[in-house]
Amino acid sequence: MRAVWFEDGIVKLIDQRKLPLHFEIFEASTPEDVAFAIKEMVVRGAPAIGITAAYGMAQGWLQRRNMDEVFEILKNTRPTAHDLFYALNFMREGISRGGDAVKLAEEYAESIIEKCRKIGENGEKLIKDGYRILTHCNAGALAVGDWGTATAPIRMAYRNGKKIFVWVDETRPRLQGARLTAWEMQQEGIEHAIIADNAAGYFMRKGGVDMVIVGADRIASNGDVANKIGTYEKAVVAHENGIPFYVAAPISTFDFSLSSGDDIPIEERSEDEVLFCRECRIAPHGSRARNPAFDVTPAKYITGIITEIGVFKPSEVEKLKKL
Ligand code: MRU
Repeated sequence: MRAVWFEDGIVKLIDQRKLPLHFEIFEASTPEDVAFAIKEMVVRGAPAIGITAAYGMAQGWLQRRNMDEVFEILKNTRPTAHDLFYALNFMREGISRGGDAVKLAEEYAESIIEKCRKIGENGEKLIKDGYRILTHCNAGALAVGDWGTATAPIRMAYRNGKKIFVWVDETRPRLQGARLTAWEMQQEGIEHAIIADNAAGYFMRKGGVDMVIVGADRIASNGDVANKIGTYEKAVVAHENGIPFYVAAPISTFDFSLSSGDDIPIEERSEDEVLFCRECRIAPHGSRARNPAFDVTPAKYITGIITEIGVFKPSEVEKLKKL
């Protein structure tokens, strides 16, 4: 499955705001439309945001737009996902070397998807037959294409005949778990149950979780990981209960320019995402809300980071910079 693709100069996206009840395709005809799609979360998930931005650059190039302007429009969309900046820089460098931007964007998309397949191979070895795995948010095919990141080892284990079960955190406020990860698990036929975010600790303490795998939006040089809000809590509770906590991400998510997670910019989204559930207001009129979209999990809570080139301890991230 591809969350985003490029056809006849149009960036086409599965509209993730509508899933799972409606399957609709959103068509972006200009880089401004592409920026809207990223900002409003028609597409979301760090690697998919990167791929979408790469196609946005290709579209701007085909339309003979000022590429510095297109770069800025796409850059000023979501601040946390490192893949966005990685993809934009990849495209800018390729175009400045005289490359064909459409070919470059396709090459970028294919390479990220292939990296996620390798994440699947590397992470699958960590999953034992009968494992019950907890995941947070959606780090699946909708967030990358085909394999996903956190879901790549899960899919691979399932396809290799291992019996597995997935706990899907609903992931308030945007419900990426309940809406998107559950949808993906259902499509693949993987046994799963959606739980309220608050229930994860309950099941961990009862011995119902063998391992946690989540995705990442940005990883700093010291191994701190920014991911969907609530990830930090899951990591602390997993640590408290002796449950291995893994992060799955391609190298495009690593930001080696940052020494620690404290330097990762955290997006704060509209309070309406908390005050409303879809169109329905759920809080008293006059109450205010805060809505940070991500948090940072300190490296000390992370057992390992599953990448396309192997599984590393957070303390080994620094050495990846040299590679
Ligand atoms: O706000 P979102 O839905 O873009 O947040 C997505 C996540 O936090 C994912 O876990 C992360 O981007 C990894 S996706 C492979």
